[in-house]
Amino acid sequence: MTETVFTQDTVTGLLGQIADTGRDSGRGGYTRPVFSRSEHELLDWFVAQAQQRGLDVHTDRNGVTWAWWDTPDRTRHDAVVTGSHLDSVPGGGPFDGPLGVVSALIAVDLLKARGVVPHRPLAIAVFPEEEGSRFGRPCLGSLLMTGSIDPDTVRNLRDHDGNTFADLAAANGVDPRFVGRDDEALSQIGMFVELHVEQGRGLIDLDRPVAIGSSIVSHGRWKLSVHGQGNHAGTTLMLDRADPMVAAARVVVDIRDTAKRQSQARATVGKLQPVPGGSNVIASRVDFWLDVRHPDDAVTAALVETILQHAQQVAAEEGCRVELHEESVSPTVHFDKPLEKQLRQWLPEAPVLDTGAGHDAGVLAASVPTAMLFVRNPSGISHSPEEHVEDADAETGAAALAKVLGELMGQTP
Ligand code: GLV
Ligand code: MN
Ligand code: MN
Repeated sequence: MTETVFTQDTVTGLLGQIADTGRDSGRGGYTRPVFSRSEHELLDWFVAQAQQRGLDVHTDRNGVTWAWWDTPDRTRHDAVVTGSHLDSVPGGGPFDGPLGVVSALIAVDLLKARGVVPHRPLAIAVFPEEEGSRFGRPCLGSLLMTGSIDPDTVRNLRDHDGNTFADLAAANGVDPRFVGRDDEALSQIGMFVELHVEQGRGLIDLDRPVAIGSSIVSHGRWKLSVHGQGNHAGTTLMLDRADPMVAAARVVVDIRDTAKRQSQARATVGKLQPVPGGSNVIASRVDFWLDVRHPDDAVTAALVETILQHAQQVAAEEGCRVELHEESVSPTVHFDKPLEKQLRQWLPEAPVLDTGAGHDAGVLAASVPTAMLFVRNPSGISHSPEEHVEDADAETGAAALAKVLGELMGQTP
């Protein structure tokens, strides 16, 4: 093993080192899609940081990057694993993903400085395409690793420019023939703990810096396509139109209204593409993406059904027709209760909160005991350049993660 160099780093200091990577001058914030130059730069930076800490780094066949703190007398089995992701939504903030990765590096520093003698190995895992902002399907790395998605489906996913996952993976050092369930990787994980910026207002309202995650509400993504009649903007009389943009606009408003009538529901249309997309062209089709979330899986499904029925009616009134295609559905996930109980003992000040945001931890929870920690976000704003974490809270979060990892590493598997 490489000799360990003790660093004097902080979470804020490390985040500062990557603050210029993937900045989006157009949208503001960061755009760091999977298999992009910015994500590569972040991964190279992570590898260098991990190696500087004496961790043994490799990337597995699903593109998950691992950094191992091995123990001399234990094999990589039942390890304590932490980590998060480095990709971002378009125009996202600096903390969603990187905070968990950077806090893991700092937690290793804190544990090493404290002279912790681990009984079990620890690994930091960095998962690719957590946001699904390139291929539409979130948490691709963890879904592939756990065998929760068909590898053929993934190989054939296309990005906005028509590139397949298979082609881009191959160009980025991940052989697409070998993506899929990885029992070897899975068997190494004894438990998984992901630290993440909170993406809501729970901690502000409770005036606490760190929370323990209890569950992730069910969520999914659906593509709606409204088909109409493409035509000339100047020569087509208003009464003669079958304009899918008008139908789509009415459907978007109806989606908002439908979700508002259901307590705890969230429904969003954040992406809309007219085809062909010309300012003097009545579109022939409008594609838009629906994101629906609710703590109850059945309510989520019922909301989507209601939205579809309303959309069909609206489309008919506008002389159009609508199609709905399910892209992903993630049922409500409850994190491991015994692990949560331990975290409550070790972090007695931390409240327990659920979240409406998806995470790789939610995917891994079906395979291994999993927990999450959330760090306060003073505005609650996320998936936006305004996402923020105060420096002191970031360090408190890393210290809480170090406490949890240290306790877990001290346990005999
Ligand atoms: C991921 O951040 C999601 O909840 O969409
Ligand atoms: Mn996110
Ligand atoms: Mn995230």
